[in-house]
Amino acid sequence: MVSFSILALLASAAAAVPFALEPAAHGSLEARQAQMPGECTQYCSVSAGCVCIKRPTNCVANYTVASGDNCGTIVDKYNTFTAHDLYLWNPEIGRQCFGLQAYVPVCINVSGYKYPGAVKGGDFATPDQIPVPIQPGIVSNCTKFEYTDKTGNPGLAKILSSNKITKQQWNGWNFPSQDRNGDWAVWAQFWSCVAAPK
Ligand SMILES: *[C@@H]1O[C@H](CO)[C@@H](O)[C@H](O)[C@H]1NC(C)=O
Ligand SMILES: *[C@@H]1O[C@H](CO)[C@@H](O)[C@H](O)[C@H]1NC(C)=O
Ligand SMILES: *[C@@H]1O[C@H](CO)[C@@H](O)[C@H](O)[C@H]1NC(C)=O
Repeated sequence: MVSFSILALLASAAAAVPFALEPAAHGSLEARQAQMPGECTQYCSVSAGCVCIKRPTNCVANYTVASGDNCGTIVDKYNTFTAHDLYLWNPEIGRQCFGLQAYVPVCINVSGYKYPGAVKGGDFATPDQIPVPIQPGIVSNCTKFEYTDKTGNPGLAKILSSNKITKQQWNGWNFPSQDRNGDWAVWAQFWSCVAAPK
């Protein structure tokens, strides 16, 4: 089990991690009523310095990221939006949310937004649904993701048995550069990959 302090460390240490913007094809989720500008704009403060951020022009509420926050802590603080939406509204945080930066405001609501409800442990998502946050290192051709909640449910054993996959397969999709026979942990409040082509 990766501890929360390590996750927090990763999240706060990750300001410099480059991120890839998803193609504009957000499908039916596209709406979520966000109106995104084409360019990022400079946000400057004493605490954060100057960073270029892209925020919806119809954003109606902000939250200033605190040191040690990650997508899980921010979503839990409000329970009024999903990490998926947080990512669509604040694209530089990235699919892993490692781009969250302390003292920088993130948009947490846009006009007309309707909260679809909380993501639950054991929920599945396809790539076109853009699950967030995903474990880092997941193979790019993953076809199915499963969410593990903050209590660690479902854990790896349950994920393996319910998806009828082996530890070696799961390791290969989630920790492709590591030992296939290793005991790698499923991350709490992240999506892991549970299916990919051979
Ligand atoms: C949210 O923060 C951004 C960046 O500072 C700012 O441009 C925007 O006006 C804020 N929106 C609200 C609703 O406070
Ligand atoms: C988000 O903003 C809309 C206004 O467009 C408002 O109706 C809704 O209550 C807001 N959601 C939250 C959780 O404040
Ligand atoms: C899926 O990605 C993995 C890791 O990059 C690769 O080994 C595998 O060959 C890919 N499968 C297909 C069908 O492209």
